Amino acid sequence: MSRMSRKGKKPATDRPLAVVVLAAGVGKRMRSATAKVLHPLAGRPLLAHVLGQTARLDPVRSVVVVGHQAEAVAAVVGERAVCVTQREQLGTGHAVAAARRALRGFSGDVMVVSGDVPLLRAATLKKLLRRHRSSKALATVLTMVVDDPSGYGRILRQEEGCFRIVEHADAGREEREIDEVNSGIYCFDARFLLRTLSALDQDNAQAEYYLTDLIEKASAKGTAAALVAEDESELMGVDSRLGLARAEALMQERLILGWMERGVTFLDPASVYLSVDVRMGRDCVIGPGVRLEGATRLGRECVVDGSAFLKDTVVGDSSHVRWGVVADGARIGKTVQVGPYSHLRPEAELGAESHIGNFVEVKKSKIGRGSKANHLSYIGDATVGRDVNIGAGTITCNYDGFAKHRTEVGDRVQIGSDTQLVAPVKVGADCYVAAGSTVTSDVAPGSLVFNDKRQQVRSGWVEGF
Ligand code: UD1
Repeated sequence: MSRMSRKGKKPATDRPLAVVVLAAGVGKRMRSATAKVLHPLAGRPLLAHVLGQTARLDPVRSVVVVGHQAEAVAAVVGERAVCVTQREQLGTGHAVAAARRALRGFSGDVMVVSGDVPLLRAATLKKLLRRHRSSKALATVLTMVVDDPSGYGRILRQEEGCFRIVEHADAGREEREIDEVNSGIYCFDARFLLRTLSALDQDNAQAEYYLTDLIEKASAKGTAAALVAEDESELMGVDSRLGLARAEALMQERLILGWMERGVTFLDPASVYLSVDVRMGRDCVIGPGVRLEGATRLGRECVVDGSAFLKDTVVGDSSHVRWGVVADGARIGKTVQVGPYSHLRPEAELGAESHIGNFVEVKKSKIGRGSKANHLSYIGDATVGRDVNIGAGTITCNYDGFAKHRTEVGDRVQIGSDTQLVAPVKVGADCYVAAGSTVTSDVAPGSLVFNDKRQQVRSGWVEGF
């Protein structure tokens, strides 16, 4: 049989898809100065999670309806979709109507999704689309069965192809008992949608234009369909701080499970926080209370002991990040030891096999291969060569009150404890810097440098005192 139907139309599966994401609402129950869809979950705004999933459907058009804090929301959308503005928020039907112009000339299927369902998976959207297309419906709604249906639109099933959605505010006592509810995600035939939107009215308890009324209108033609979601937690809309916390817990569980399946061990998974953009290699071990944010990357066989905060930090294979390390924008090479309690600030670069120990702060500095700064140091705006030993309490004095200056330390230099390197200054390769030195000018390679602070002793002085 030919792939074309008898009427010569393309089979439904080849129809183009447009996606409309509704993100104009205020989210009053968040009680926040920030629009609801901008609140972060696992390191990304709620809306970005939704857009990440809808993009997997390869829609030919993507539209986001913005309204409250339109500019900030549009900035999150970026190039991913066209933004249209709904100036007044008069309901979900009114919101989709705002996208009408952006959908002009489009024929195919239009998927409508709320911008506040961050746990949504593309696989579920694909199933909805398949159901919509296979049932040749004008409108298909994704429903879910929940323990507590209050607040949701209830699904009133009538006969095959016919049902209605009644909003909580409009529902009678018996209708409120129904536990199958509207998830707020739909597929529509584009022509039906664009034509019927203008027939919506505000004749309901909330005086809103209900998008849900379109389901009844499709039912009148016997062409409405529904798909019951397998996992309702995925469709959870975030509308309060409690909802945000619950969604975050579910997202963390999902992310951590995903990494476990890829060979990462978590010693106390419930206490770990990961951003969606984190990547980890096989056989990493993540201890309790570890927070990996931004685009942090761990190579293979890295160990992060615990209570560490790494943001936008890259860690090479087999490195050991010990307890209590804070790193932001740092690059840690292979087989490095950091911590406990080290602070790596932006542009800290630790070469392979280097050691950075307790209470050492490194900022905008390169530490060469195999070099060590194990105790109580500040290394800022410095380039440190290979196999250098930086003694306890060494400080690069990089700031003169007006500007920052660089310190350069050559390969194999031994820096004694309690040394100050007053920048700008260069210490050549193979130098010895005596303990307690204040180095204020450049030192040629192979030199010993010390300050003349000769030890003085007065025998028996204490007794007299
Ligand atoms: C809607 C459904 C309800 C469903 C519920 C699922 C209607 C009438 N009701 O409820 O059946 O159970 O979702 O969560 O559709 N929005 C706009 N502009 C507006 C109004 C809303 O962009 O004028 C956006 C919101 O930002 C949000 C989404 O639409 O992303 C859903 O709005 P919300 O107010 O949470 O949904 P309800 O109308 O209460």
